[in-house]
Amino acid sequence: MPPRKKVSAASASGMNQKVELALNEQINAELHSAYLYLSMSSWFDSTGLRGFANWERIQAMEERDHALKIFDYVITRGGRAVMTQIDAPQSEWKDAKDAFETQLAHEQKVTSLINNLVDLSISEKDHATGNFLQWFVNEQVEEEDNARTILEQLKMISQEKGAGLLYMLDKELAARTYTPPAPSNS
Ligand code: FEO
Repeated sequence: MPPRKKVSAASASGMNQKVELALNEQINAELHSAYLYLSMSSWFDSTGLRGFANWERIQAMEERDHALKIFDYVITRGGRAVMTQIDAPQSEWKDAKDAFETQLAHEQKVTSLINNLVDLSISEKDHATGNFLQWFVNEQVEEEDNARTILEQLKMISQEKGAGLLYMLDKELAARTYTPPAPSNS
């Protein structure tokens, strides 16, 4: 993640500056997640697992939506969303299981970032931000569960050395479709 960048004082008129800065860092983290999953999508495609590639591409779109949700919130509060450098993601994995181990570890890291943000909103008495972040707290439960479930399936497949089972899972993941997010305050 890039170094903490100061948000201009003029932009911070509507909200707590520490919270504004931390939310900006989370926008960067969500865009980095999108970048990581696009990278995985491309890698899966190169291995012939088009269903996995589809699943990760949609995951990347959801991560972009997470970034935009925070972007819109910062602006609604009178703050300023500042775009900063996005770190290059990993681009190669040993196999599908290795990729989903990366994904689960990444989502667990994002969960801790969200929890830190909630802690900050409490210590800064920014209750509106705390309320806003509850959507992300719930979303992270689903994000970790998705990655964990697929990882468990991949572990079973590798134990049974089942190329046919991998093909079936690939077909299942090919069926994922993109659903745009609900409005921010729902
Ligand atoms: Fe935006 Fe996958 O967490």
